[in-house]
Amino acid sequence: MASLHPNAAAPPPGEPTSTQGAPSKMTLSLGHLPKRQDIRGPWPRTPSRVDPNNPPWPAYRGYHEYSFAHATMGVRLPTILGKAIEDTMKTLNEQSAEDQVTDLLACIERMDGLMTDLSGNAKLRPIIDDGEADVALWNKAIAKYFQGKDFMNAPWLFAEAYKYRRLRECFSVSKYWRDYDVFFRQKCDTFSRSADAVFELSMRFAEPFKHSENMSDAEKLEAERLMFHELTQICLWGNSTDLSLLINMTEDQIKSLQSTGGDHLAATEKNILGNQMPQLWETVKELRQKTGGRIDFVLDNAGFELYCDCVYADFLIQSGLAKQVRFHGKRYPWFVSDVTKKDWEWLLNTMVYGYLFPKATEQERESLRRMGARWKQYEKEGKWVYEAHPFWCTGYTFWELHGEAPDLFLHLSRSDLVIFKGDLNHRKLTYDCAAPASTPFDVAIGPMANAAGAPKVCSMRTIKSDVVVGLESDELAEKLDNEEEGWKISGKYAVVLLSEGRPGEKVRFA
Ligand code: F6P
Ligand code: MG
Repeated sequence: MASLHPNAAAPPPGEPTSTQGAPSKMTLSLGHLPKRQDIRGPWPRTPSRVDPNNPPWPAYRGYHEYSFAHATMGVRLPTILGKAIEDTMKTLNEQSAEDQVTDLLACIERMDGLMTDLSGNAKLRPIIDDGEADVALWNKAIAKYFQGKDFMNAPWLFAEAYKYRRLRECFSVSKYWRDYDVFFRQKCDTFSRSADAVFELSMRFAEPFKHSENMSDAEKLEAERLMFHELTQICLWGNSTDLSLLINMTEDQIKSLQSTGGDHLAATEKNILGNQMPQLWETVKELRQKTGGRIDFVLDNAGFELYCDCVYADFLIQSGLAKQVRFHGKRYPWFVSDVTKKDWEWLLNTMVYGYLFPKATEQERESLRRMGARWKQYEKEGKWVYEAHPFWCTGYTFWELHGEAPDLFLHLSRSDLVIFKGDLNHRKLTYDCAAPASTPFDVAIGPMANAAGAPKVCSMRTIKSDVVVGLESDELAEKLDNEEEGWKISGKYAVVLLSEGRPGEKVRFA
């Protein structure tokens, strides 16, 4: 029989629950209740009870000991911030003008202050009005949902994003260093150490895609399908080299993560646990029948991943599957390696004008120049467009995109396909909560699938954090839990998931 002390979960060991005769303490008989392990929480929450502090399934939070959230908030973020401080000091030592030196010193002091807040688990304070377009969005969220919350007990996603926003603030309130990118050196450096994979792709794809002569229409289509299949995987696995996880990567680590050859891709395809690539092909094929559509990329990381995204987008344009590609980046440095406008311009210009790869042959350099020149031409012709909405640098998930950034939702609703790259975008799509692994993708992404006018959405993500949905069964995830510790953070596994959305329907806002 289960018994309960009124003020404690269980009696101290050895202590009887009652003595002979009258009980010394009141006991409750709870024998009729189900066993604890049979009690399931009321998940998912009904949509009206969902808010940024209460996702549909339990949120990951930094105070969950032994979790990746805990390790990130307690160890990874301070390490990343420490490295950013070191890098800024290097920049400081390179300055000569006194007012710029002292201005940068003040930025470093603010970073030290952020380090104290982070390691001391301070409460989340409002963002200072530094003129960024997202200040009101941030402060509304903090006031409405996170009053009194700290770095560890706010949902991990919000607290982590907040740290990057605070880091931005360290510079954005300065006079001379407003646009300083603390991570820029690292981003460029990793790309410059990716020579093998960079040239493997440029040597293959510098020449515009064309079919060999005498092919039937069916053969041409099959050749395109195969190319699409390969390039989708190149684009997907480009997401493995994310600097926030791999600070101080060795050349060999970079190489093994960036193997782009056919054999490697065939071997890794089995690691795509939820794989809707065939449906994705059907989707883009249909676009061509409509004389090519608009495809949007919500970008993730700069450097090599962006380069792979562009190789993929180049093929989509050349093959007529898309007639316009719109790339969505960040307005300022974000999660270490995410693409900003500066990273975008740097990539295209370094390809055309740079001398980043001293050991490259003239032929290799030429292939990179040609490809870069073609991409710049796409930009001039409006076939490629780069944009950066303030919403992407907030702590809101994409369940709130419809309500908090209606203009952006409307804009995306006009796209034929929106491809979200990477882990953070996937966390935001799925509300970063403990949904069962078998949750269908379109259920997991809520309004991004079920709001009127929601576009088709694809998530291409190597798995680098806890949330996993869109698998055939929960058992598959359980098996990996038992057999392969750390499978959710290694980047070895991936998903390519697609939601059909409700395209074409009139977008409505409450
Ligand atoms: O800090 C964890 C995290 O947010 C994870 O989502 C992932 O490990 C990384 O940072 C960002 O990955 P990505 O660049 O693929 O979004
Ligand atoms: Mg990233």
